[in-house]
Amino acid sequence: MPNKRNSAVGPIGMFDSGFGGLTVARAVIDLLPHEDVVYIGDTGRYPYGNKPAEQVREYARELAWSLVNDYNAKLVVIACNTAASVALHELSAELPVPVLGVVEPGARALVRATQNGKVGVIGTVGTISSGAYVNAIRDTKANVALTSAACPGFVEFVERDQTTGDEVTVLAERLLAPVRDAGVDALLLGCTHYPYLSRVISEVMGPNVVLVSSGDETAFAVRDALTESGMAATGGIGSHRFLSSGDIAWFAQLGRRLLGPELDSAEQWSNNKI
Ligand code: DGL
Repeated sequence: MPNKRNSAVGPIGMFDSGFGGLTVARAVIDLLPHEDVVYIGDTGRYPYGNKPAEQVREYARELAWSLVNDYNAKLVVIACNTAASVALHELSAELPVPVLGVVEPGARALVRATQNGKVGVIGTVGTISSGAYVNAIRDTKANVALTSAACPGFVEFVERDQTTGDEVTVLAERLLAPVRDAGVDALLLGCTHYPYLSRVISEVMGPNVVLVSSGDETAFAVRDALTESGMAATGGIGSHRFLSSGDIAWFAQLGRRLLGPELDSAEQWSNNKI
């Protein structure tokens, strides 16, 4: 484990394969208004969920190191379940700043939300097949029965700004059948894109199922990590920068709709410095 830099100077760095991590960025910006944030959406190489773990790990390394070296990030949030599932431990070990993922915070929020002890997790093929949630839920020591389902196709709908409608609903009916049939009363949206589909998912799951997303819990974890290490910004209004490895006009347009007014423009990110 490298000695971690310990500085209140610099932004919180965040990344995802695309727009999904904006659900986490929204929570971080709302909870920590004094903090600067730099967000990279790797839309030029998304989706991650169907790629081999080794490739996702390499992308995650590039993005995380870029946040530290090019943008002076004081802490990195892997705002992508697929990347966090396969790269959190490695990046925590090699980066000179603290690194947080979304899997453990999501698992904690999920086990708190259930009444009947039956919980579900949905995510990308990569996340579900990694077993990261099985491990994270076991680590909570909660006495719950977990049913997981991969939802290939959900991320692509979000990236195209198709978050409601018959096509999404038909796919959701099919993919959510295992968790619905298992009688879960709490379902973790274990992909940061999925909160944008929550209206459809909620309608398919029915009114008795609580949908849990990792954004808020991750933001609390970021706050605690900064406060405990004396790295929190103490005043002023944070600045927010957004970068994309793909079409930045589309990133600014859809990103602004999804995140809100802080995303007023997008810059190009390219991996040319490592
Ligand atoms: N937001 C990413 C996640 O949380 C989506 C992965 C993808 O690009 O397939 O898993």
